[in-house]
Amino acid sequence: MKVLLILVLAVRLSAQLPTRAAIAGSNLDEAAIERGGALFAAQCAKCHGPAGRGTNPQTDLIRSTRVRTGEAVVHANAGLTQPQIEDLRVWLKLLLFSVSSKGNQDFLNILTGDPRKGELFFTKNCAKCHSVEGDLAGIGEKYDPSVLQSLWLNPRRSRTPRTVTVTPPGITGTLDRIDEFTLILKNPRREIPLTDESKVEIQDPLQPHFDLYPRLTDADIHNVTAFLATLK
Ligand code: HEC
Ligand code: HEC
Repeated sequence: MKVLLILVLAVRLSAQLPTRAAIAGSNLDEAAIERGGALFAAQCAKCHGPAGRGTNPQTDLIRSTRVRTGEAVVHANAGLTQPQIEDLRVWLKLLLFSVSSKGNQDFLNILTGDPRKGELFFTKNCAKCHSVEGDLAGIGEKYDPSVLQSLWLNPRRSRTPRTVTVTPPGITGTLDRIDEFTLILKNPRREIPLTDESKVEIQDPLQPHFDLYPRLTDADIHNVTAFLATLK
């Protein structure tokens, strides 16, 4: 019984991966695709899914504007060599290519939502921070629907820094990076070692977006995108 389950799962996962036809049609280097695909499966798929669709909206690389524009390929300090990063870049391009041009339902049907329901959802959940006549005026004209969707699901971090306060020594600044041992501030430029005594408070203006994820249904996502697309 266990064996059967694993087989079914394997078929479902591989069904989402690019087909031979997509590989041929993409005009990407096949050797790089193979290396990038293997690396992705080994090191990235557990969080980003085998086809990059993520295990939640935050880890969906296919909907990410930064991946789409080539701005983001790997995490900082991922310990990968430049050739490995280039292979992953090719693999991500292939994943994007196969969903955009090979009839992936989600993508082609991105505007199947109901804009009126999207507007209701917007009024209730978004209007306290955004305005269709203000900051989001004309946004439906500026971006194509897939980019629009990834913009509101994953607003660009580069535009919206996190503020962090660390005590001791009691400094507040813009967060660059943090791991278990070190906090790196961008402004003021500072590298602060962390200990068990360190108290770190991070304020993220994008947190309301991430807080939405667990509550969003596919219908909500499509409705809101359809509504934003009408803002011309
Ligand atoms: C342990 C889970 C995990 C693993 C493993 C992982 N990632 Fe991620 N990744 C995340 C999470 C969570 C985010 C989103 C939040 C963030 O930026 O930290 C992310 C974000 C990204 C982004 C940025 C997307 C955006 O919109 O800015 C890229 C690109 C990315 N990952 C690529 C990779 C690649 C390539 C690998 C493998 C070499 C990988 N990740 C491995 C969890 C993971
Ligand atoms: C508590 C405040 C808050 C709430 C609630 C909120 N947002 Fe945002 N949103 C922000 C901030 C802050 C940014 C980053 C600044 C920016 O990019 O404009 C942002 C960015 C965006 C962007 C990217 C704009 C761009 O041009 O890059 C879109 C689109 C967006 N939000 C749509 C929405 C939608 C749709 C909802 C509701 C489902 C929502 N937001 C809920 C605060 C909020």
